[in-house]
Amino acid sequence: MRLTRLVLRDLRNLAEVELHPGPGLNLLVGPNGAGKTSILEGLHLLAYGRSFRGRVRDGLVRTGQDAVNVFAEWELEGGRGEHRAGLRHAGNHWEARIDGTPVAHLGELCAAFMVVTFEPGSHALVSGGGEPRRRFVDWGLFHVEQDFLPVWRRYSRALKQRNALLKSGAGAGQIAAWDRELATAGEELTRRRALYLDRLQERLTPVAGALAPLLGRMSLEFDPGWRRSDLSLADALAVAGDRDRMLGHTTVGPHRADWKLVLSEKERGEALSRGQAKLAALSCLFAQAADCADERGDWPVIALDDLASELDAAHRQRVLDYLDATPAQVFITGTDEPETVRSTATAVVFHVEQGRVSRRE
Ligand SMILES: Nc1ncnc2c1ncn2[C@@H]1O[C@H](COP(=O)(O)OP(=O)(O)O)[C@@H](O)[C@H]1O
Ligand SMILES: [Mg+2]
Repeated sequence: MRLTRLVLRDLRNLAEVELHPGPGLNLLVGPNGAGKTSILEGLHLLAYGRSFRGRVRDGLVRTGQDAVNVFAEWELEGGRGEHRAGLRHAGNHWEARIDGTPVAHLGELCAAFMVVTFEPGSHALVSGGGEPRRRFVDWGLFHVEQDFLPVWRRYSRALKQRNALLKSGAGAGQIAAWDRELATAGEELTRRRALYLDRLQERLTPVAGALAPLLGRMSLEFDPGWRRSDLSLADALAVAGDRDRMLGHTTVGPHRADWKLVLSEKERGEALSRGQAKLAALSCLFAQAADCADERGDWPVIALDDLASELDAAHRQRVLDYLDATPAQVFITGTDEPETVRSTATAVVFHVEQGRVSRRE
């Protein structure tokens, strides 16, 4: 998909900006504090219903204003349609429309408007806790499998019920009544996550080779959240029953799933430098975008905040070359324009200064 128009109102220091991005690489260049990251935050907000820099009510809305507004128009690959969406978010309430129709759940925006974002917190994909990695896998599944969301919801609902019973000190029999539902939905969720990671592995190998050949082969290792190789989820829940009742929550299952990236040129457990972690996380993100493109016939928009930081010139160039070779629309922020971009025919440069944006012709 390709964004053709983006309007942001009252987002941090941006009173009102309007961009008409190019189909390929778009660079947002300007000094610190100009509003570059805020522009990507606007894109991210429309795609995810939240910011990557904390809650909407914690400063996303421009000081003195009631709400932030984001409006976008985009077209799908191969003339498969044009769409528009708008979101007004006031922190504790929001309203949104897609093609003029009111939206009931923010997930509808997420389904329509696909953006993958790399921001400073994205390092967590390789170095943080399991939560961002589960979210990463589920984002991919949500976008490529239409019937994934009901499975995910079914599992989440059953987990919530079982946890509520555990917390209230319910007896073993009452708890076990939920195990069946949890196990059925959980096995299905896990089956899909495992297949997804297998597929992602195929995409990751060429991306990693292009971005960070010195890190060697990158392998994704799935941890389903219980000892799946010797136990069904139903059995694992039964085994954990007493402990779960003592602790007051469910200790095994897909809500504890995780995956990790193993690099052939690194010892297990050896810490990566910030730059290496960034390359590894970027590789995962691009593999996911490529998978989305293959499965749906449409690339998500790729937004990279401060690409240059932590990367040396050669690796920066590798990333740009990789992106240039994909049909994806890309937004990159930075304080300087990369030297080589001048020669890229499709690159569009926007200057951002004190909350204002101008396109360099
Ligand atoms: N709620 C707000 N209202 C007004 N200005 C804000 C608000 N929140 C942050 N800012 C300011 O917005 C500016 C833009 O920040 P940012 O987008 O991070 O800049 P950049 O990425 O270009 O360095 C900063 O100067 C920041 O102080
Ligand atoms: Mg910034």
